Amino acid sequence: MSISFKVLKNEDDLLKMNVEGIDVEIKGVVAKSPRMLKALAWSVVYSATADVICLCGESGTGKEMVFRAIKQVSGRGNAICVNCGAMTETLLESELFGHKKGSFTDAVAERRGAFIEAEDGFLFLDEIGEMTPRGQAKLLRAIEYKEVKPVGSDVSLKHRAKVILATNRDLVELSSDGRFRRDLYYRIEGFKIELPPLRERPEDVEALLKYFSGSTYKFSKEVLPNLLKHDWPGNVRELKNAVERAKINSLYGEKQITWDMFGISKRAFNNSNRQTLDDMEKMLVEDAFTRCEFNISSTSRALGVPRSTLYSKLKKYALIS
Ligand SMILES: Nc1ncnc2c1ncn2[C@@H]1O[C@H](COP(=O)(O)OP(=O)(O)OP(=O)(O)O)[C@@H](O)[C@H]1O
Ligand SMILES: [Mg+2]
Repeated sequence: MSISFKVLKNEDDLLKMNVEGIDVEIKGVVAKSPRMLKALAWSVVYSATADVICLCGESGTGKEMVFRAIKQVSGRGNAICVNCGAMTETLLESELFGHKKGSFTDAVAERRGAFIEAEDGFLFLDEIGEMTPRGQAKLLRAIEYKEVKPVGSDVSLKHRAKVILATNRDLVELSSDGRFRRDLYYRIEGFKIELPPLRERPEDVEALLKYFSGSTYKFSKEVLPNLLKHDWPGNVRELKNAVERAKINSLYGEKQITWDMFGISKRAFNNSNRQTLDDMEKMLVEDAFTRCEFNISSTSRALGVPRSTLYSKLKKYALIS
């Protein structure tokens, strides 16, 4: 399927586009590459027409940021965000669908749940690839029939939320491994928006560099070519952090930022074939552990390994004492 869109203005972080004949304005999003512009255009179209959208892309590609852009363009006020990878199945169920008072030990009061609380606004469900099959089945029902059944209740309630899903996992791969329900996958397949990794959109690197550094700084000539050679496993988040580091390293006094100030390690820079399997594993474990706010249960779920395995890896890589 194709989409008709035209960029009217694209300066700094203000993007004006005409998408399918309608003018839209997006602030706070830097996008110069055709693939990112197309992803934004599709986001605008789907958010106006579909009840559910799925934002897919590696960690740090900007899924949450695109969600904020969708919200901006839509003018809908309400938005509730839930990280589905950071909770146990029971807690998540009650968080999303609500519960009746007394339906389980901690249910001291009734709870409406995120679907109902979102009202006519958005419900942003992050890390849906981490949901259990049972949670996925309930999610499918909520999307398909626009109704939810609170834990401990026999009565289904209608909801009006627009659901934005996000994942950094490959849902096709998860589905073929039986870890993501196919029925749910087929329901959202048509409304998937892929955010390309930063290494596949070099046009955005320079624009993001300018955006994150501000107008005060100048860069020496080797900086941009080196940034373009880097493969950005952490995507835009990694670039943002590298720019922050460079600014600090320049002690806010030097106006000229040189490549070494970015602190991008030679090992990462020389690309992954120089890394050992242990290096890669350490990176993955450390990244998940940080994202799960150092919670061992959430991290073990996010990585799909038992707690004991995670524990020994955290010890091995000195991530805990
Ligand atoms: N195109 C962009 N323009 C400006 N800032 C961006 C852009 N893309 C990402 N960022 C910034 O990079 C950081 C990471 O983006 P974001 O949190 O949206 O990534 P994500 O895809 O949700 O990552 P994760 O899968 O780890 O949750 C944020 O600080 C965000 O504001
Ligand atoms: Mg995110």
